[in-house]
Amino acid sequence: MAKEQKYPNLFKPLRIGSVVAKNRINFEPTAISCSNADGSVSELDIAVYSEIAKGGYSMINIGGCTPDSKTGRVTITGVIIDEDNMIPGLARLAKAIQKYGALAIPQIQHPGRQCPMPKGSIMSTNDQVVKLPWSAGHEIVFANAEEQGKEIRAMSTKEILDQVELWSLAAWRCQAAGMDAVCLHAAHGYLMSAFLSPYLNRRIDRFGGSFENRMLFTLSIIKEIHNKCGNDFPVIVRYSANEWVPGGIDTEESKRIAVALEQGGAAALDLSQCIQETPGAGFDPMQYSEGWTLYSAEAVKPLVKIPVIISHAMRTPEFCESVIAEGKADMIGHCRQALADPYWPTKVKLGKPEKIRKCISCLTGCWQESLMAKKDIACAVNPVCGDINFYNMDKEKSSRAMKIAIVGGGPAGMEAARWATLRGHKPTIFEKKNELGGAILGCCLVPGKEKMKWYADWLRHEIRDLGIEVKMEHEPTLEELKKYEVVLNATGAVSYVPDVIGLKERVVPLEEVFACPKTTCEFYPKDSGRKNRKLGEKVIIWGDHYAAADLVAFLGAAGKDVTVVTDRKEFGSSVEVIHMYVLRKRMAQGDAEALHSRPYKYPVKVLESSTLYEIGKKEVKIIDGNLNVTAIEVDDIVTCYTKSNTALADIFEKVDAAGIPVITVGDAISPRNLHAAVKEGASFSLALDPDHCIKNPNNALIDDLPIDVKEQLGF
Ligand SMILES: Cc1cc2nc3c(=O)[nH]c(=O)nc-3n(C[C@H](O)[C@H](O)[C@H](O)COP(=O)(O)O)c2cc1C
Ligand code: SF4
Repeated sequence: MAKEQKYPNLFKPLRIGSVVAKNRINFEPTAISCSNADGSVSELDIAVYSEIAKGGYSMINIGGCTPDSKTGRVTITGVIIDEDNMIPGLARLAKAIQKYGALAIPQIQHPGRQCPMPKGSIMSTNDQVVKLPWSAGHEIVFANAEEQGKEIRAMSTKEILDQVELWSLAAWRCQAAGMDAVCLHAAHGYLMSAFLSPYLNRRIDRFGGSFENRMLFTLSIIKEIHNKCGNDFPVIVRYSANEWVPGGIDTEESKRIAVALEQGGAAALDLSQCIQETPGAGFDPMQYSEGWTLYSAEAVKPLVKIPVIISHAMRTPEFCESVIAEGKADMIGHCRQALADPYWPTKVKLGKPEKIRKCISCLTGCWQESLMAKKDIACAVNPVCGDINFYNMDKEKSSRAMKIAIVGGGPAGMEAARWATLRGHKPTIFEKKNELGGAILGCCLVPGKEKMKWYADWLRHEIRDLGIEVKMEHEPTLEELKKYEVVLNATGAVSYVPDVIGLKERVVPLEEVFACPKTTCEFYPKDSGRKNRKLGEKVIIWGDHYAAADLVAFLGAAGKDVTVVTDRKEFGSSVEVIHMYVLRKRMAQGDAEALHSRPYKYPVKVLESSTLYEIGKKEVKIIDGNLNVTAIEVDDIVTCYTKSNTALADIFEKVDAAGIPVITVGDAISPRNLHAAVKEGASFSLALDPDHCIKNPNNALIDDLPIDVKEQLGF
């Protein structure tokens, strides 16, 4: 049996209007925020999108292309298609995608009220300032942004008609550039979505009020695109099939929209979820399980003949195959999964699904630290994503195998070992504990964070399959490390107890609460007797960042009465915003949209700008920013304060002094997150060159030397 027959439906072609997609796996519209400052297509745009096409996605949807940069750029580095001089760049992008057999499909999007550029006089359907609890669109905003001048105004009729012309002109430019179709962004609270939505559209003219009036903007644009590009030019519409707000689009309304769009000439429907007020549903953090959006496709599909595309948190080939096989949708879509592993379709087709690096829905790399932070796209588990150096690295085998000691078997160490091996080096991992995984391991205990284990397991399988030497329960000595050519310090972070008066010994280290007890796990060290420290009912979580947020989720779900004491102004301000949005709802004994977890027994109390002042036998005194001291009684205190691990600092210093470069990565530099650990581990292996393995005076590895300097330095 040919291997692809295991998933026969995923690899069937699909007609979308006048074009044919070669399989049923769509790359969903994704704004990768990598374009040139003037909005023209960059080399990085081409590298990212063409890699996903190469991986076998049949349609590549280039997200967030603005038809009118003067009134609304989607991200500050999104593609602009409001001038003809953007056509050559678009044409190069189209060719780079089509080279791999995929259809190239820009998504036309006006951000409307969620506009990062321009800053003032922002256009929307109406002038009401909508409260966005976490952002004003594609950017992290200062506190109370509304009061500080985020001015939103209702569009005039002329401006609406101008937009119809501008969107259709943008589509024409895409067609002129050789793109195969366009997609209209009518989801997530952006401009077109704000017209469709009965919740957002409060206009009282012909573009608001009745269903027909709310459809008018979108239908006029489809019509005008067909006028300019011909009726054959496919127009896909992506809209939110459920907005999760009272009075917003719900399943019933989404059915009416689907029928109206088909009648209005749409070639396919791509169903999404949410507006910005309900980001849980839109950007599915880890808590959302595979298939949760399927209900919307099942409702809409029987009513239309055009293809229905469904996405959100779809990760496993079996599930995706079943969606098509059971006729629930015509095509499945990936956004983040393709960033985490662009080769998902090829791996499935070639019968290697276990090699897929699944997206863990963490939103740190692709969302928090790229799009929201005005930076190029990235992925926490895929260091290649959005980094031109890594796209070239694949070709770089080392001229000689170097002996590398990697101290620490967490994500940074494992990723460094993986890339080093792929480049032809010989790494050895030294791991103090009896299991590889580092800080990720505790995540198995945190409800909603189980996906972290996907990545831990993927890495552990790769380490095994690549035959990388691992010395478990082994802390290296100076003599051992001196046998290597270069040493990586990936020893991570450890918890500590900040300065406090009284019974410091009552404070429990975070590591004792998060000792993963998953005995059923394939990698669980047999007979290790590892146990989690049991805590009393009333617990103080002392500290912040991911450790504290995870502990809240763990202890809250376990029925503990939790008080968080953080010295930050706002709890969780360094944790990914949409995860914090969900967690805050849980802390208040509720849940985010479409989630139905059992409420915590107690609401979680948070004392911000505060710290522990004195610890007594039962009573704990807490001091706030105004130096007020309050006392509460608790059973246990857990510290979530972490600092880089310096246990081997002396040895590393001596190794370095002996002329063997020691490079530090990940939390061993400072506690951050998975994204930083993976990127720095992989970057270390990218930089390794056996011809000149030296550090510069700033302690950074020199990855490349000009030929004359090489000679001058005696290499
Ligand atoms: C970095 C990033 C950029 C996105 N850009 C767009 C976009 O331009 N247009 C759009 O319709 N949706 C956009 N989305 C939403 C995704 O298309 C998708 O609906 C969502 O991520 C859930 O699907 P997934 O689990 O396959 O990622 C974006 C999501 C992310 C994470
Ligand atoms: S950063 Fe996280 S959510 Fe985004 S693509 Fe990578 S693994 Fe998925």
